[in-house]
Amino acid sequence: MTIKHLHDVLVIGSGAAGISLALELAPHLRVAVLSKANLMAGSTSQAQGGIAAVLDSTDSVEHHTADTLTAGAGLCHDDAVSFTVSNSSANIHWLINQGVPFTRSSDDPDAPQNYHLTKEGGHSHRRVIHAADATGYAVASTLIQRARETDNLELYENRVAIDLVTHRHTGSDNPRCKGAYVLNIEADQVELFQARCVILATGGASKVYLYTSNQDSASGDGIAMAWRAGCRVANMEFNQFHPTCLYHPQAKSFLITEAVRGEGGKLLLPDGKSFMERFDPRLELAPRDIVARAIDHEMKRLGVDCLYLDISHKPAAFILEHFPTVHECCLGFGIDITREPIPVVPAAHYTCGGVIVDQHGRTDLDGLYAIGETSFTGLHGANRLASNSLLECIVYARSAAQDIRQQLAHSSPDLPDLPDWDESQVTDSDEDVIIAHNWEELRRFMWDYVGIVRTNKRLQRAKHRVDMLLQEIDEFYSNYKVSNDLIELRNLAVVADLIIRSAQQRQESRGLHYTLDYPHTSSEAVDTILVPKNHQ
Ligand code: FAD
Ligand code: SIN
Repeated sequence: MTIKHLHDVLVIGSGAAGISLALELAPHLRVAVLSKANLMAGSTSQAQGGIAAVLDSTDSVEHHTADTLTAGAGLCHDDAVSFTVSNSSANIHWLINQGVPFTRSSDDPDAPQNYHLTKEGGHSHRRVIHAADATGYAVASTLIQRARETDNLELYENRVAIDLVTHRHTGSDNPRCKGAYVLNIEADQVELFQARCVILATGGASKVYLYTSNQDSASGDGIAMAWRAGCRVANMEFNQFHPTCLYHPQAKSFLITEAVRGEGGKLLLPDGKSFMERFDPRLELAPRDIVARAIDHEMKRLGVDCLYLDISHKPAAFILEHFPTVHECCLGFGIDITREPIPVVPAAHYTCGGVIVDQHGRTDLDGLYAIGETSFTGLHGANRLASNSLLECIVYARSAAQDIRQQLAHSSPDLPDLPDWDESQVTDSDEDVIIAHNWEELRRFMWDYVGIVRTNKRLQRAKHRVDMLLQEIDEFYSNYKVSNDLIELRNLAVVADLIIRSAQQRQESRGLHYTLDYPHTSSEAVDTILVPKNHQ
């Protein structure tokens, strides 16, 4: 018998998006939040730079909007940008009220609302509110603490959602999401979480690439689950590569925040010369796609493994005050950033595409919402403006919460009978080596063929390989008991396929999608929308 958990609302993901939504709903509804590892897993707790918002009197909604549209290279949806930016200040105040300890300005640290604002690439004003260089940790730990103190809110760790349960599982004609099958890693058992509505807040899919700034999670689980449940996805070809991750054999692509460049850090070639002036008049603070491509170009031209980011010309006290995390991490690898440049390379960082949603996070399937990096709201267009992601997480989480309250106020609290998880046909696998091998192969060919610079031929090669892998993984999935690695691999393969197909459809270069076969940008900007066969 499958263990069953019954709630009003099931939130899959405990990052900024999932926890914010849960906090807004728990006073009114019974809410469950799942994390595939501990509650701090995911990208939120790793976020460094901060959150973009209109907070300074010299800044304006119009300026923030214009910067977002410019970075998005013609593909942002005006309504999503206007909704997010005009709600930015109110949502930062919501975070402040939850207790997030943002860094105060040194001018007058005791004055209320006097916060230090930093700058990042593509921003015309200082508007990034932060907690030194560990903003995500401050946000995540504060919100999780609030969640622990909240009645009606149950937090489940080490629970990996495998697939959504929909009308198809009950033979109903009424399309609706009704819950999810979830692997309890500790008990090694699949459980059923039933709910009146389900929220996908599982983060992005950057782990599809061999080198990524995302230390864990980010295997595109939510996007793959929604796709299998019949939801459309959009703009999956726009994978953001962060220009500056630490280059060190043991560093696992640790991020060097863009705020280092915002505060005067210079990008340098191995001989110490600057080069950004050859690529963009905004130099180090050009949008991310341009800086990452410039670094990639110079590395290939010179045949070197990394370039350098130097902030050592600033006073050591300033560096220690603003970048304590980066300083400590680099020092652990023998690099003192107050005295020497940091070796850096680009790495996969953010998934601009995702599950198509409206302003309330509603997907194509009734009862299913998607928020945060899993979703496609139209905000980021072809390239996300730095620090707009955490903002989007909070704005859409709270908007979705409002909608869910209204929807559930008019629906019956009863939950239908759902079928148990069926594992009668599967056996234990003794072939874990195949999963590990496929995992490595997938991430490597995505890096080599579907990375910063693409061509038709490389995309064709990648498509050929992913087709073979999808078939092999499908057989594996049907015959063997599920494990976390198998679930992630299955989802990564689905997401890789969606990325490749989207990249093949876009016959132009725009924002983060750059191909040597179509180097120009078309006059018309169109989203790439993929529709699954079982879409209703
Ligand atoms: P996440 O925070 O990634 O959380 C995902 C959650 O889903 C986790 O709890 C995970 O366990 C859970 N999950 C995933 N799959 C499953 C499953 N199958 N079953 C159950 N649970 C599951 N953005 C900014 O705006 N400013 C920044 O300064 C910034 N810095 C960044 C620095 C780094 C190193 C990285 C990697 C990203 C950064 N970003 C930044 C991007 C931003 O952090 C993310 O886009 C954002 O945190 C995503 O939040 P989320 O809630 O959507 O997902
Ligand atoms: C960074 O700190 O450079 C990351 C900011 C972001 O991804 O928005």
